[in-house]
Amino acid sequence: MNPRAQARATRRDFLQTAGRVTAASALAGVAVPHVHAAEDNTIRLVLIGCGGRGTGAAANALSVENGPVKLVAMADVFDTRLKASHASLNKQFGARMDVPAERMFIGFDGYKKAMDCLRPGDVAVFTTPPAFRWVHFTYAIQKGLNVFMEKPLTVDGPSTRKLLKLGEESVKKNLKVGVGLMSRHSKARQALLEQIQQGAAGEVILMRTYRMHGPIASFASGPKPEGVAELLYQIQRFHSFLWASGGCFSDFNIHSIDECCWMKGAWPVQAQATGGRHFRGNNIDQNFDSYSVEYTFADGTKLFMIGRCINGCCNDFNNYLHGTKGLATMTASGMSPAKCRIYQGHVADSKKIAWDYGQREPNPYQLEWDVLINAIRQDRPHNEVQRGAEASLVTSMGRMAAHTGQVITYEQILNHEHEFAPDVDKLAMDSPAPVPAGPDGKYPVPQPGITTRREY
Ligand SMILES: NC(=O)c1ccc[n+]([C@@H]2O[C@H](COP(=O)([O-])OP(=O)(O)OC[C@H]3O[C@@H](n4cnc5c(N)ncnc54)[C@H](O)[C@@H]3O)[C@@H](O)[C@H]2O)c1
Repeated sequence: MNPRAQARATRRDFLQTAGRVTAASALAGVAVPHVHAAEDNTIRLVLIGCGGRGTGAAANALSVENGPVKLVAMADVFDTRLKASHASLNKQFGARMDVPAERMFIGFDGYKKAMDCLRPGDVAVFTTPPAFRWVHFTYAIQKGLNVFMEKPLTVDGPSTRKLLKLGEESVKKNLKVGVGLMSRHSKARQALLEQIQQGAAGEVILMRTYRMHGPIASFASGPKPEGVAELLYQIQRFHSFLWASGGCFSDFNIHSIDECCWMKGAWPVQAQATGGRHFRGNNIDQNFDSYSVEYTFADGTKLFMIGRCINGCCNDFNNYLHGTKGLATMTASGMSPAKCRIYQGHVADSKKIAWDYGQREPNPYQLEWDVLINAIRQDRPHNEVQRGAEASLVTSMGRMAAHTGQVITYEQILNHEHEFAPDVDKLAMDSPAPVPAGPDGKYPVPQPGITTRREY
């Protein structure tokens, strides 16, 4: 049943479903602190990480139409971020908001306090930088909570191993987990995949992906200003620090890499890459400003990924697939709408269109929430952790190849021992940052060919 039809479901259906959610949690051995009141079919949400995407994800969650959803608690490490997010959500969704001051939690332990406000079967939303995913997910599983977590899920081999294990546990507990690789829910891309699988582009021989634009978000960072703690500075500017985000490489490129691998139906087995820092002025972050990766699949076919964050150069944000019959486009200048097409031959010639999705595309950021809440209400399997962790891992594989100058295989990155922030679960407001600046005041930067066994 689609989400809109589900919105018309009878109250009796809701009560049966609510019963199933509680029963499933009980069967999984989860302690049930509150039993759902017979009349209460509301799914409660808590938002952990109240920045741009967190506010957007909460808005999508509160817009789902198949039954009542309510935001009951929020957590962040910055009071200002939480308050701004709360004000914005309150303005749009006042009636679906129930977050009084005593359920606004500031600090690194805020995630626990927020999740303690939920009952098994409710939903915790993780939209902090990815370094904290495994910490927050561990607690959610303990509490029998369903989860929505943003991409990337991991930043290195060890955190991926943790997430994969946690993912298995969450499946065993029948938890529903959505992962913010929303392209997978794009109707146009789903239709394109069907075409590719039916051979409309022929046999897939090559894919190309480009993400080239100027410096955005916290891609570049200068020395820490006075008056802010080092740890909080790094968290505020998380795209600049590999431990927090996997750097701009992981944060910006994971969608494109994941889309291509999805169309191919496989993860690459190895990567080799180049990259470098050019005109960085006073910036001392850990990012390269250009990357070029050759991913190889088991059948020998290739995915080329080009990433650049430099002003004054040509911009490109597109994904292409070449089959023996012609060219398919997966992304048209950004994430949505995708405007997927297949052309006869390898030139994107509008007079030679073999297939065109052509319809108005529903917003995939909304669709991923419709699917998650529907799965919870109908107690249908829905767990995207494994593929989200694997997408994060192959993204890290390309980044590590560029940063070390070595060929990196899937097995190498998966089994690698360099964990960028092993103690991220123990952080407090006054903790030292996981990556200190050196005596020269600069953060460690990857050096391909010199530092070859780890990224820094
Ligand atoms: N799917 C998409 O298209 C998409 C788009 C944007 C961002 N994202 C992802 O969403 C995540 C957040 O990105 P953003 O752009 O919203 O960043 P942001 O900086 O705007 O928000 C992150 C928030 O998390 C808070 N935070 C950091 N550490 C915390 C902790 N330990 N506990 C509680 N709160 C903490 C920060 O203070 C901040 O308010 C990233 O993983 C990013 O890749 C996904």
